[in-house]
Amino acid sequence: MVIIESVIYSGRRHELGRQKPEKPMDFSSHDTRGYQTVSAAAGYDEWSKFYDATVSEQLDLPLLEKSLSLKSATFRDALDLGCGTGRIGCWLKQRLIENIDGIDLSERMLEQASRKGCYRALKLADMLFSGLPSTSYDLIINSMAVEHVEDLEVYYAESSRLLKADGLLVTIGFHQYFLLNGIPTHFDRRDGSQVAIRNYIHLFSDHFTAATANDFTLAEVEEAVVDRSWIAERPAWRRYVNKPVSYMLVWRKIATPGTSISKEA
Ligand SMILES: C[S@@+](CC[C@H](N)C(=O)[O-])C[C@H]1O[C@@H](n2cnc3c(N)ncnc32)[C@H](O)[C@@H]1O
Repeated sequence: MVIIESVIYSGRRHELGRQKPEKPMDFSSHDTRGYQTVSAAAGYDEWSKFYDATVSEQLDLPLLEKSLSLKSATFRDALDLGCGTGRIGCWLKQRLIENIDGIDLSERMLEQASRKGCYRALKLADMLFSGLPSTSYDLIINSMAVEHVEDLEVYYAESSRLLKADGLLVTIGFHQYFLLNGIPTHFDRRDGSQVAIRNYIHLFSDHFTAATANDFTLAEVEEAVVDRSWIAERPAWRRYVNKPVSYMLVWRKIATPGTSISKEA
């Protein structure tokens, strides 16, 4: 069998006349907190030691548990983009899939992930330029990292390149509601000061434009609001009750002529 592959990194449909998305909205013009802001790599390196103890699993696990697309398929090879300390990889391994690779640009977060032993391979890399072989995965998952990515177009192009036809891309993010109200991704230092990690604001229409330009079709959308279980875990969040805190977009990669042609010899 001969496989001829043509990798299209960006914007086939843009060539056909669709508008390329504008730059993402600048978070700093919405910022109401004024925390010191650091890059994703520096921020997560610093947060890594106490990340698991401070992150709320209400952000993503209920969305994943609910996903019909995940329940109704079987997967062979998964990639966890922005895998961090490996929370999601371990969740996947317990429930859905044996072979999971992870990518992250924070070395310290990867060290934590490696200790958990849930991944087949871990790579220190930017998810926008993973360097992994094309069409290697039938599931890509990305939880709470896309709000640190400036260029959504490249994010969807690279994910599309890595996925097999019919594969799923699950993108879970911090809800724009919070970012637009000036609340960034942040953590508390031991001395009580707060640090924000650079965010970019992407509207759902930005996701749609960038994803559909890269051979994705939308399979599922869910949003999580701050509810009673949140308040039980974090009473200080009472002021955000019923506000949307995270979202999940499940995309399916459509097979398009020209991306992968296979010929029997
Ligand atoms: C909020 S943490 C989420 C970690 C994990 N997915 C989870 O849900 O626990 C975000 C992670 O994304 C990583 N990250 C951010 N931008 C990235 C990029 N461009 N490439 C790879 N990793 C990135 C950070 O280093 C961090 O570990």
